[in-house]
Amino acid sequence: MARRNLLKLGEPLLRKKSKPVTNFDGRLGELLDDMAETMKAYEGMGLAAVQVGVLKRAYIVEADKKIYEIINPEIIKTNGELIDVEGCLSVEGYRGIVARPEKVTLKFFDRHGEPMTLDAEGYAARAFLHEYDHLDGVLFLDKMIRKATDEDVKE
Ligand code: CO
Repeated sequence: MARRNLLKLGEPLLRKKSKPVTNFDGRLGELLDDMAETMKAYEGMGLAAVQVGVLKRAYIVEADKKIYEIINPEIIKTNGELIDVEGCLSVEGYRGIVARPEKVTLKFFDRHGEPMTLDAEGYAARAFLHEYDHLDGVLFLDKMIRKATDEDVKE
């Protein structure tokens, strides 16, 4: 495993649409392992492949002390709305207040190409949807109601 270079805001690749994963091979596994190491090093709770310069529809999210690996996801259903603070490892210096669905159901593949589904709610749902947006070149800045203040972050 190796930590990979993290792309920051202003890097054009972050605005590109990622392409579906077609080979569920050792290289994909290596990418996912490296992403996990990179996410931990930067103390993030999610990371998309594009953030380490790989335009593939793959991301990871840490929730319930487990790392979920999400490949070629599809959003099946969303429900409700929550407004909360979120940040991004590729956006330094501030976080934003963003409205997201409270619940999400995702269909995706694991690293071996097995089809999976997952239900998430609350902050985990936010993380799964934030990372999903990265696959389409969308950043939280595009959806942000306003920048978060120190007060918001404390809550
Ligand atoms: Co992000």
